[in-house]
Amino acid sequence: MANLELKENTVQQRSLGQGGPSVSAIGLGCMGMSWAYGQAEQDDAASAALLAEAVESGVSFFDTADVYGLGANEELVGAALAPFADRITLATKAGLASPDRQAGSLVPDGRPEHLREAVDASLRRLGREVIDLYYLHRVDPAVPLEESWSTMAEFVRSGKVKAIGLSEVTVAQLDAAQAIHPVAAVQSEFSLWTRGPAGAGAPAVASAAGTPRDVGIGGLSAGAPGDVISWTAASGAAFVPFAPLGRGFLTGAFDAGTTFAEGDFRARNPRFAAEALAANQRIVDEVKAVAEQAGATPAQVAIAWVLAQGEHVVPIPGTKRSKYLQENIGAAALRLDAEQLDRLSNLPAPEGERY
Ligand SMILES: NC(=O)c1ccc[n+]([C@@H]2O[C@H](COP(=O)([O-])OP(=O)(O)OC[C@H]3O[C@@H](n4cnc5c(N)ncnc54)[C@H](OP(=O)(O)O)[C@@H]3O)[C@@H](O)[C@H]2O)c1
Repeated sequence: MANLELKENTVQQRSLGQGGPSVSAIGLGCMGMSWAYGQAEQDDAASAALLAEAVESGVSFFDTADVYGLGANEELVGAALAPFADRITLATKAGLASPDRQAGSLVPDGRPEHLREAVDASLRRLGREVIDLYYLHRVDPAVPLEESWSTMAEFVRSGKVKAIGLSEVTVAQLDAAQAIHPVAAVQSEFSLWTRGPAGAGAPAVASAAGTPRDVGIGGLSAGAPGDVISWTAASGAAFVPFAPLGRGFLTGAFDAGTTFAEGDFRARNPRFAAEALAANQRIVDEVKAVAEQAGATPAQVAIAWVLAQGEHVVPIPGTKRSKYLQENIGAAALRLDAEQLDRLSNLPAPEGERY
């Protein structure tokens, strides 16, 4: 136990929003353990061991969603983290549905009746009496945000959920939500090659000729998000960047010759098509150059840059492997200097839409 406490002290802490729990500056995204990146590498026993290792290494913020593995990821994460429930913060999400479970395609469903069923189902699968942080996974264009968000607020009042947040939203949507109930956290894709939530100055997609455009799950257009990072800082909410490693790309793991297995989300993702991978190598080359200079790995540089965007930023890199977990945690101790940060902030825009 003494050893464990010693290790915990070595991972920096950040507050998950004003008045929120103190969590490790680097969380763990659990999606890939059950979803998105191909079934061949999914191994529940190995993932359960990794989750325990993460806690023992000082990670205290974990991310799942009801749709990851269509419930399987919540079951896996809930069981593996049950022994540590009192010292971790576990986030999950609702607001997407998979009407065709065979195909696994997702559509937004922000209807109050869906959310009410979803929260009870998540609590059951997680084996918990309360969810620490509950996100609306996507705003449903067919349901006024106010309706979905008021329903989420109802879960806080009834004690099913401690705090609520949103994923992939615009500043205008955040203003509307905040007027009803405090936004504890915003989770959006944000990394060296996906800068939408940083607002107007951020490079968009090179091929979109300067028109910032963000496309969400199922072609759901959220529009340009605006400066969500500043909004969260000013509003006392946490900003939780998802896919901070560019779904693996920013680690230097892929080149134009990389092929992805059928069932791997990247096999159909425009940014991972051979042409885009080739064009985007210039981004990863710069990340590698900074990494070499800083005596770190490209993954650590990508995470450290995200952490440097504000004290309220808590990224959740995803991995299934101990080696990557330890490497990623190590990024909390990496300090990039002003010149390195500047170089990274001025990377060219990527080729290829992110969905
Ligand atoms: N709100 C949303 O809509 C949304 C959408 C997507 C994801 N998320 C959340 O965000 C989390 C993180 O995103 P993500 O997993 O999609 O993308 P990511 O964190 O950018 O990248 C994960 C990929 O990078 C690899 N990787 C991790 N660490 C590495 C390292 N140090 N060196 C080399 N490769 C490394 C992983 O490989 P292995 O898997 O082989 O370890 C995996 O292929 C997810 O787990 C999920 O919880 C949320």
